[in-house]
Amino acid sequence: WGKTGHRATGEIAENFLNKKAKKAISKILNGQGLAFVANYADDIKSDPDFRKYGPWHYVNLAPDEEKYNEKTANPKGDLYQAILKCKEVLKSKDATKEEKQFYLKMLVHFVGDLHQPFHVGRGADKGGNDIQVRWYNKGSNIHRVWDSQMIDSYQMSYTELAANSRKLSKAQIKEIEKGEIIDWVYESREMANELYDSVEIGEKLGYKYMYNYMPEVLQQLQKGGIRLAKILNDIYG
Ligand code: ADE
Ligand code: ZN
Ligand code: ZN
Repeated sequence: WGKTGHRATGEIAENFLNKKAKKAISKILNGQGLAFVANYADDIKSDPDFRKYGPWHYVNLAPDEEKYNEKTANPKGDLYQAILKCKEVLKSKDATKEEKQFYLKMLVHFVGDLHQPFHVGRGADKGGNDIQVRWYNKGSNIHRVWDSQMIDSYQMSYTELAANSRKLSKAQIKEIEKGEIIDWVYESREMANELYDSVEIGEKLGYKYMYNYMPEVLQQLQKGGIRLAKILNDIYG
């Protein structure tokens, strides 16, 4: 996602944290909230020292394989391995506060990215980055439309996006929290596969596409927030 999407994920997660998790997180982040740190993993991309985390923002599953395969996975890391690594450090008794702070900021971001379907897209087109479309009158690609252009055109703040998430029943929240991280990877891949068919190369997209898909964007931001909170509640609860 772009900045607003990531902040919305962090803001939604705040509303699902239990007391213990809230306290532990506030201590690690010196009082800052999850929305505040949600874009850190993108902001460090310009620093050569952090270049190695580039592949951690996405995971491309092999097209001919049903399941995630460690043997064909990107040896430089991917979004799935990144989230496992963040969890491991946050749970570790040996990690320093600085390490925990770094990996917590990364986790907030990566759980957001996991719910942008094109971050679990096809490797051949770089998760839709090579699928050229037009956004109104400007050249774009389907990855970017989903990362930020729909959300930005909608012109809602991250707090407003968070406040406009659906009111869910306890059972619906439980359903979203269900499963392991790998199941959420498969869910996003499934969605990406459908979305690839939602556009034709070179197609001009605008308000119609936005109104068709903003409910799905909001749903993904909400799932991301709920699942981020679930991970953090499990660690600290
Ligand atoms: N960003 C850059 N490369 C990507 C890829 N292969 N999949 C998804 N997002 C990407
Ligand atoms: Zn990212
Ligand atoms: Zn992206």
